[in-house]
Amino acid sequence: MRAAVYRRFGGPDAVRIEERPKPAPGPGELLVKVRAVTVSAADYRARTKKVPKGLKLPTSITLGFVKPRIPVLGMDLVGIVESVGAGVTRFKPGDEVMAMLGAKFGGHAEYATVPEDGAVTAKPRNLTFEEAAALVFGGITAQAFMGRAALRPGARVLIIGASGAVGTAAMQLATLAGAHVTAVCSGSNADLVRSLGAQRVIDYATEDFTAVGETYDVVMDCVGNVPFGRLEPVIKPGGSLLSVVADLAAMLTAGSRSRRTGKRVTAGNVPFTAADLARVAELAETGRLRPVIDRILSLPDIAEAHRYVDAGRKVGNVVVQIAGAETANPSQTSPLICARYPTQSPPPSSVKIPRPMSSPAPNGDVRGRTASTIATTR
Ligand SMILES: NC(=O)c1ccc[n+]([C@@H]2O[C@H](COP(=O)([O-])OP(=O)(O)OC[C@H]3O[C@@H](n4cnc5c(N)ncnc54)[C@H](OP(=O)(O)O)[C@@H]3O)[C@@H](O)[C@H]2O)c1
Repeated sequence: MRAAVYRRFGGPDAVRIEERPKPAPGPGELLVKVRAVTVSAADYRARTKKVPKGLKLPTSITLGFVKPRIPVLGMDLVGIVESVGAGVTRFKPGDEVMAMLGAKFGGHAEYATVPEDGAVTAKPRNLTFEEAAALVFGGITAQAFMGRAALRPGARVLIIGASGAVGTAAMQLATLAGAHVTAVCSGSNADLVRSLGAQRVIDYATEDFTAVGETYDVVMDCVGNVPFGRLEPVIKPGGSLLSVVADLAAMLTAGSRSRRTGKRVTAGNVPFTAADLARVAELAETGRLRPVIDRILSLPDIAEAHRYVDAGRKVGNVVVQIAGAETANPSQTSPLICARYPTQSPPPSSVKIPRPMSSPAPNGDVRGRTASTIATTR
């Protein structure tokens, strides 16, 4: 089978298409013929080892110190079950599924195995494989973190990094829960985030959300460039901070900070569950959650997809077709938000066209920079 393989840590050119043995499903596993995946922020972090402070050692234990231990990236996949291992009861050959592989990776290949008891669920029937792929990584993360906040109707929610894979899903989930959502993103993404439910938009390049005098029941941080000391006053008493991006110290002190401030802090990793993914799929199938796609590339162009993701400026998701290019046309029934969809002409007027691939952020990593740095270096 063909797979996108990386043999060294580094830039996008480390990723090459290679022939690899087709895996066989072990007991309790599904063998999935992969149709579409995303290249995500997690692939960028794994490939470059640019991880939040203090996480390099734990990351290296999993991914390798000198050379990659897991040669195929890809945290998510959508495809068709080809065969099942002994003891599998929930799925059968022919089922269309979507899965979050998490730190096991391995999605960027023509075939992958998925544990039946992992984060795997039926693909929404109304979506193409590409559209469904754009739901998995951001959708399950947003659902898992939002689940920690016990959102109630009328809650005021701030989402920092609202235009990324996680942010675009989180905004929709918070809006569905009846929350009043404020999105922090760049001005060029304001229309997109409004179309996903944001009632107020703060352009981080021109306005400091910690200085506008507003407080929120829930703050979800998908960027990680503002220290807790500046975030904490923005959270209402008894409110929650969902730090999707957190360094080791933030993860280790989440409990003590919760006790000290009375504000519930969730920092770093939360488990990815089949129940969360099934919820995402159900919302999509009933038209309440929309996949957001920046662009779609094919497997031979996957290094280009990595290059684009590395810039940290993608809108929603960058999808890679592994097989079945004929399904790239948007489904007729899905309420797809499509920022830039090569086979569709022209995209809806309310949707943003992102910057071309030739204009990435200067150092290729905006994730650790401050808003003011980004504003002055763009
Ligand atoms: N803890 C976990 O389990 C978990 C799971 C998934 C992801 N993550 C982490 O969560 C983060 C977000 O993931 P993602 O997939 O959503 O990333 P992403 O899609 O790559 O995020 C890109 C978006 O971030 C925006 N952005 C960049 N700097 C910003 C700033 N200072 N303020 C506001 N928006 C900014 C960009 O918008 P502009 O171009 O307009 O700046 C772009 O649309 C990543 O660091 C990822 O590693 C953690």
